[in-house]
Amino acid sequence: MNSINPTTTPAWGRLLQLAEEHKDLKILSLLEEHERFERYSLQLEDILVDFSKNKVNDDILKALCDLARETELHLAIEDMFSGEAINQTENRAVLHTALRNKSDHAVYVDGENVMPEVQKVLDQMKSFADKIQNKQWLGYTGKPIKSLVNIGIGGSDLGPVMVTEALKPYQNPDLEIFFVSNVDGTHMAETLKKVDPETTLFFIASKTFTTQETMTNAHSARDWFLGYAKDEKAVAKHFVALSTNAKAVEAFGIDTQNMFAFWDWVGGRYSLWSAIGLPIACAIGFDNFEQLLHGAHAMDEHFRHSMFNRNIPVILALIGIWNTNFQGAASEAILPYDQYMHRFAAYFQQGNMESNGKYVSRNGEKVNYTTGPIIWGEPGTNGQHAFYQLIHQGTHLIPCDFIAPAISHNPIGDHHPKLLSNFFAQTEALMKGKSLEEVKAEMAKSGKSEEEIEKIAPHRVFEGNRPTNSILVKKITPYTLGQLIAMYEHKIFVQGVIWDIFSFDQWGVELGKVLANGILPELKGDEEVTSHDGSTNGLINAYKKMR
Ligand code: F6P
Repeated sequence: MNSINPTTTPAWGRLLQLAEEHKDLKILSLLEEHERFERYSLQLEDILVDFSKNKVNDDILKALCDLARETELHLAIEDMFSGEAINQTENRAVLHTALRNKSDHAVYVDGENVMPEVQKVLDQMKSFADKIQNKQWLGYTGKPIKSLVNIGIGGSDLGPVMVTEALKPYQNPDLEIFFVSNVDGTHMAETLKKVDPETTLFFIASKTFTTQETMTNAHSARDWFLGYAKDEKAVAKHFVALSTNAKAVEAFGIDTQNMFAFWDWVGGRYSLWSAIGLPIACAIGFDNFEQLLHGAHAMDEHFRHSMFNRNIPVILALIGIWNTNFQGAASEAILPYDQYMHRFAAYFQQGNMESNGKYVSRNGEKVNYTTGPIIWGEPGTNGQHAFYQLIHQGTHLIPCDFIAPAISHNPIGDHHPKLLSNFFAQTEALMKGKSLEEVKAEMAKSGKSEEEIEKIAPHRVFEGNRPTNSILVKKITPYTLGQLIAMYEHKIFVQGVIWDIFSFDQWGVELGKVLANGILPELKGDEEVTSHDGSTNGLINAYKKMR
């Protein structure tokens, strides 16, 4: 991938000009255009993406697509899918798409087709997940497994958590699943209270198998388990490893027979499609896991082969760039109107912020424009009663993605129509707002005095014109969830390409890890610590006195 500063392209200049020309553009007026909804929405199978409620017109959309072309997005897409080492700072290919490649096409890394290996691990996962689901995998006292405990952090935790929560209706009712990520002993202690060593299976999920949190939790889990089983041989029945690091797995004491491998061309935050997805497959069954992969593959095909102006991930990425670089937005909210998807925003917080939270361009210079936004969100309608106030009337521009299923897994009473009425109403309210005249008329109608109207009315005005995307999905199934996840993954990729950054490394998390390793031995004993700056020394010494 070439390094192209996007601000040097003709399209960027044109976009700056368009942003100035159209600074008073009203989304509501744009919606009066003929067939705006039809032209500004895209459908892939059961997913409808409406981007018509954005401050974007045909000229802007064209210039955004030009920006994608001028930054050579088409080449980058092909480079990624064909296994080029586009993660240049780590000299690795980026091939989470190969993990869900359901075509019969080979995918090469360094001249070798990786598909046979991918299939081999999938077969191993299927055989294992089937045994768990069918109660054929027995613990050290001969009882079937009832509790699945995933020990991992970051990409080795968030994906499986998010997916198993989102697909809870598909979970085997005889199994319970838990996730331990935090090195805070509370996370492990509280989980162990809920499980029985005879019927618990631990997945030690770590790409590197060196992550401090995961290794600490894994050792504590094994100590706890051996406290009951009192036999090292029993470990094989209760601990499996999901990793790229066979040596470290063996050193930990897990038989490599019970190791599910993946490869360095799978990024941690893109790894739920790999062996890291084994707890998902065990919880919801392998066929459902396969459906997740099929859904993602369908989105991959759409992304790889659609023209930019009909390409869902590309359009979402370009609208994000418009809002970030030309409208001044610093964050984006992801708001699923689906309680099962309550970890979706958290998942893409890592996906997006670890990928595109970079200020150095691909040629090593500091960028002179804004890159990845802050990602956050909670499910609707809870968010409405918490932070939507700021989205409606605050001083920050916060573009939002609203996501909702048309069909609920729990169609009790009129809950779902009520939920969806909120989903539709919020984007309408954010766009339309409410003028001073409307507020005044409303207040007058309800009998308020002139004086009160003058005083209160300004506070009840909504400027509106706030951009949103609405993503309506027929139903959240393994297949459609796979599509949605892949959609956001590719959105992130497109933005990283255009922003001229490397989206697949995460050097920024290293410094804190290194410093923590240095501090850990200093916490022993009572001697005063003087090796740091004044504040850090002061805090460590205060801690030593308090404990
Ligand atoms: O701290 C960042 C990170 O490297 C993430 O990118 C990754 O998902 C997480 O740590 C866990 O890493 P591992 O799977 O190697 O334990």
